[in-house]
Amino acid sequence: MFTSTKTRRPVTREADDLASLLASMVVGQPNMIDALVPCVEMFQAGLAPESRPVGVFLLLGPTGTGKTRTVEALAEALHGNAKSLLKIDCGEYQMEHEVAKLIGAPPGYLGHRETQPALTQQKLTSVASEKCGLSIILFDEIEKAAPSMARLMLGLLDRGILRLGDNTQVNFEKTIIFMTSNLGAREMMREIAPELGFQSAVAADPGEVAGKLERVAMSAVKRKFSPEFVNRIDHVITYQPLDAVSFAAIVDHEVDRLQRHVVSRLGPRAFDVDVPYVVRQWLVARGTSAEYGARELKRTIHRNLTQPLATMVARGEVDPGSCVVVGIRKDRQSLLLGMARAGAPRGSAQPSILVVSENRELLQFQQHWIADEGWEVTIAGTAVEARKLAARRKPDVALIDAALPDQRGVELAVQLRSTAPSLRAIALTAADPLPEDEDRVRLQNGIGLLPKPFLMRDALVVMRARLADRPFPRYDDPPKAA
Ligand SMILES: Nc1ncnc2c1ncn2[C@@H]1O[C@H](COP(=O)(O)OP(=O)(O)O)[C@@H](O)[C@H]1O
Ligand SMILES: [Mg+2]
Repeated sequence: MFTSTKTRRPVTREADDLASLLASMVVGQPNMIDALVPCVEMFQAGLAPESRPVGVFLLLGPTGTGKTRTVEALAEALHGNAKSLLKIDCGEYQMEHEVAKLIGAPPGYLGHRETQPALTQQKLTSVASEKCGLSIILFDEIEKAAPSMARLMLGLLDRGILRLGDNTQVNFEKTIIFMTSNLGAREMMREIAPELGFQSAVAADPGEVAGKLERVAMSAVKRKFSPEFVNRIDHVITYQPLDAVSFAAIVDHEVDRLQRHVVSRLGPRAFDVDVPYVVRQWLVARGTSAEYGARELKRTIHRNLTQPLATMVARGEVDPGSCVVVGIRKDRQSLLLGMARAGAPRGSAQPSILVVSENRELLQFQQHWIADEGWEVTIAGTAVEARKLAARRKPDVALIDAALPDQRGVELAVQLRSTAPSLRAIALTAADPLPEDEDRVRLQNGIGLLPKPFLMRDALVVMRARLADRPFPRYDDPPKAA
């Protein structure tokens, strides 16, 4: 009734809203949304089981993949405030005696008066809202807590009851409980290390990688926690390492948020902020890593974009209704903010692709696929036309057919790159293996080759890899000299 059991995707409107709201705040983790939304719906429909918490979730996975962010996002979605949750930082409960702070000391014991238990009924209620009566509890980085924390939580997870030091009871029936953990994260990184940098490339089957990570994570959990504890968890969700596409989406969200902030804060004095695609990629490159995921991304955006923008505003350098254009400085170490010339065209937030082929049918087909990605497409039928368009439009990527009526594809690619070195060129070739001279030319000039026939899906993977300045398997550029 509430979820179609086949896909587990929500079918009601509210659930759809919640799902899309969560997906916009936590990128690239669909498993989480599929498990979380039906659970919240059950509560909202009044059908959550009695005598236990509404849901118990364990979120696993590498650092900076959105585990903590998920819980904050749910608080924002349900209560309108990302801080409307009761967060237990398990790092503060590393010693056995510290665990007592959760429930307070029994009367008569040392510290009874001064210790306010961390989990009281009143605290639970205070993080619910008029909008929604569900309290969100987060045990963050649960692996850091002393072992007695897990024992203390057993009754809470099982019956929804926690007995405090003063012998009163706290009821968890209207709570949803999250635990996050990096357990197994190091082994997970080792699992994906061979593919690091090419996560979304043709080689690795994402489903297979996901399954492997899940097994690694679960075995780490079983080593750390007792079977009773593990059995009381409703959903164990393993977060996937984020790929280039997800990182780009996070930057897009942050830039949108900045723009909305400018509009809502400055009202009639607001202005546009134009952050072209290359700048967004620069932010991704600076703010993300395999080790820390997207953890530094917000700070990178804040330091390089938000702060300089705030300075410009404070100094009165931005005219109301105007447009601030963001670029990258020559040394590529920082961003350059300036006022757009009146009437100047805006940079595009999306990569632009130039497709060159004389095969109209193929062109149309490719154009359709690329536009579906949200990328901007320009098409050319000849080398002459391609050169003109490249000069005018300055595309990020050129996808060039092997044989054009007036030139060979690889040669055109070399030419285009000689006038625009930042252009990523991919030449389609008719042969596999490649003719030696063609191979030599492209090796010397940093051009990607894609042998025909290919699936458009694979071509997109190759283009994405190019856009993220990652090599793609097999038809790769020579490694850069260190
Ligand atoms: N999947 C994601 N979607 C959106 N932002 C993310 C995602 N993962 C990480 N971030 C960004 O990185 C920051 C740290 O993520 P966090 O959820 O705290 O990581 P962890 O998985 O280590 O708990 C977030 O505040 C957010 O800015
Ligand atoms: Mg975290």
